[in-house]
Amino acid sequence: MKHLLKMLDLSTEEIIEILNLADQLKYELKHGIPHPHLKGKTLGMIFQKASTRTRVSFETGMYQLGGYPLFLSSNDLQIGRGEPVQDTARVLSRYLDGIMIRTFEQKEVEDLAEYGSIPIINGLTDFCHPCQVLADLMTIREFKGSFDGLKMCFIGDGNNMANSLIVGCLKVGMSVSIACPNDYQPPKEILDFAKAYGEKFELTDTPMQAANGTDVLITDVWASMGQEGEAEKRRKAFAGYQINDELMAQAKSDAMVLHCLPAHREEEITEKVFEAHANEIFEEAENRLHAQKAVMVKLMA
Ligand code: CP
Ligand code: NVA
Repeated sequence: MKHLLKMLDLSTEEIIEILNLADQLKYELKHGIPHPHLKGKTLGMIFQKASTRTRVSFETGMYQLGGYPLFLSSNDLQIGRGEPVQDTARVLSRYLDGIMIRTFEQKEVEDLAEYGSIPIINGLTDFCHPCQVLADLMTIREFKGSFDGLKMCFIGDGNNMANSLIVGCLKVGMSVSIACPNDYQPPKEILDFAKAYGEKFELTDTPMQAANGTDVLITDVWASMGQEGEAEKRRKAFAGYQINDELMAQAKSDAMVLHCLPAHREEEITEKVFEAHANEIFEEAENRLHAQKAVMVKLMA
């Protein structure tokens, strides 16, 4: 494993190795055991979109590993004035030991990896959000003990989160059911991947069907970063795609609920369901720190 660009690139074994290391690093942090695996290393963090969790967890995580995190807003970089990614990648490779990037196009992340010579970590693109899904898998395993026999359903937009969850959950052996409006399905590349899993994958436009007998329910905002102009149109398209009490009644009685955050209460999830599952959702947010530290150690140590 040289980079973390998308879940599609990881083998099941690599995912499990990251999760195991994340569990260990979480244990070490909680017990005050130092783990300076990245002493003297520098991570550049390029943000072309807003962030709370990704920025703070990478920054803190790098510090806890003994390294130095460098926040690079695209507004201040020459990349924001049109310097090509190919050149940026080759320059930054001479200063840094790794780059985390949050941007729009997946191609930009893939190009950084192709032209640079240091590990690249995808901190979210329009196509996927692998760091979040590694934290989600870590949280599911923490609460449920294992992935065996589990079903995950995702309700809402066939977006970056849906894409990464489909791939990640199928790769670790879970069944996956996705409920989204017909015009908002995940892209063909993801559906083609999922279809190879046969009956373990289901795509429907009916949330009640997706939630039937599920162990884990997950949703995300209806308008992602960059889609703010479509918010009203999307609100109409996604009416009915809400995690609420009626939907929860379809799931197993001990089903857990996850949300990558930020959440829009009373849109994709009711306040009541959100607060009833807040312990899971905020453990998920915490696990970003541990999962990303594991990724950085695997790639940069
Ligand atoms: N879930 C997530 O990536 O949060 P931020 O946008 O705050 O980084
Ligand atoms: N789908 C959301 C996830 C935010 C963490 C977005 O891209 O804005």
